[in-house]
Amino acid sequence: AAGLMAAMPAFAYPDKPVTIVVPFTAGGPTDKVARDLAEALRKPLGGTVIIENVGGVGGTLGANKVAKAAPDGYTLLLHHIGMATAPALYRTLPFKVLEDFEYLGMVNDVPMTLIGRSTLPAANYGELAKWLDANKGKINLANAGTGSASHLCGLLFQQSIKIDMTTVPYKGTAPAMNDLLGGQVDIMCDQTTNTTSQIESGKVKAFAVMSSKRLTSGALAKLPTADESGLKGFNLTIWHGLYAPKGTPKAVIDKVNTALRAALKDADFQKRQEALGAVLVTDGRIAPAEHKKFVEAEINKLGPVIKAAGVYAD
Ligand code: MLT
Repeated sequence: AAGLMAAMPAFAYPDKPVTIVVPFTAGGPTDKVARDLAEALRKPLGGTVIIENVGGVGGTLGANKVAKAAPDGYTLLLHHIGMATAPALYRTLPFKVLEDFEYLGMVNDVPMTLIGRSTLPAANYGELAKWLDANKGKINLANAGTGSASHLCGLLFQQSIKIDMTTVPYKGTAPAMNDLLGGQVDIMCDQTTNTTSQIESGKVKAFAVMSSKRLTSGALAKLPTADESGLKGFNLTIWHGLYAPKGTPKAVIDKVNTALRAALKDADFQKRQEALGAVLVTDGRIAPAEHKKFVEAEINKLGPVIKAAGVYAD
C-alpha cells in the first residue's frame, strides 16, 4: 500500500494563485460579483484568488483569453448572460461557448434597472416614455459594448418601445456610469449591483426594474417593474457563472465546484450580494452539468430574439 501511495502524485491544486478573468473593466457589476466571490472562495479553495480585468468587445475578449488559456485550473472566467448572446451577435466569435469551456457552476441572478441622468426631466417611467418620444434621434443610451448585459437590456428596451437610440459603448458599465453621472449620456440599463448605491444616493434617476418581480430591499423596493409600467411581459434577469478552458482536469473542476458551493453558503457573501439585489444560486444550476444545460437553453432562447433584431456586432 505504501508503494501505491508513493506512486500517487499528491493532488496539490491550487499550489499557486488562481486567476479569475473578468471580461469587463474594474468597478462594474461583473467585477463586483467576481471580487466578492473571490473573497468567499479563498478559504474553501485553499489558495489565493486574484482578479484580472480584460475588457472590450462586449466581454468576448476576456472570454476568449480563458478559452485559449492552459487548462490547468489557474485561469478561470466569471461571466454573465453575454455567454449566451455572443453566438448570435458575433459572426466571427473566436470561441465556441458550449465546446471550448468547462462549466464550473453558476453563481447568482441579478436584476437590472433602467436609470437616467439626474438632469433628465422625468420623475417616473411614464414621464420618461414621453421624453423619449419627444427626443427621438437625440437619445444616448450607454452600454458595455455589443454582447454585454446592458447592451441586451437596451436592445430589448428599444424593441419594446419601438424607439431607436444612439448607443454609446464602454468597456464596462463602471465607466458608462461615470458619464451618466456626468450627464454625458441620457439613460442606461444596468445591473442592480452597479446601480443600487447611485439610485439610493439620488445621483441617478431610476425608472423601472427590468425583471418580472419588484425588488424587496431599500430604495429599489418602490421601483415599479417594466411590466407594471406598460412594457408588458418585459422580463430580463442577468446570471453569472464560472468557467475554465476545455480540458481542465475533472479533479480540478470538482475542487472548484465544491469550493463554489461553500462560497455560496458564505454568510458575508450572501449579505453583500443581497444588499445589491443579487440572489445567489440555490438550485441545481450550481452543478456543472446543469450550468451547461442552462446556458444552452439561454442560447436557444436569446438567439432568435437577437437575430430578429437583426443586430450583429461584427
Ligand atoms: C454588462 O453590461 O455586461 C456588465 O454590466 C458590464 C460590466 O460588468 O461592467
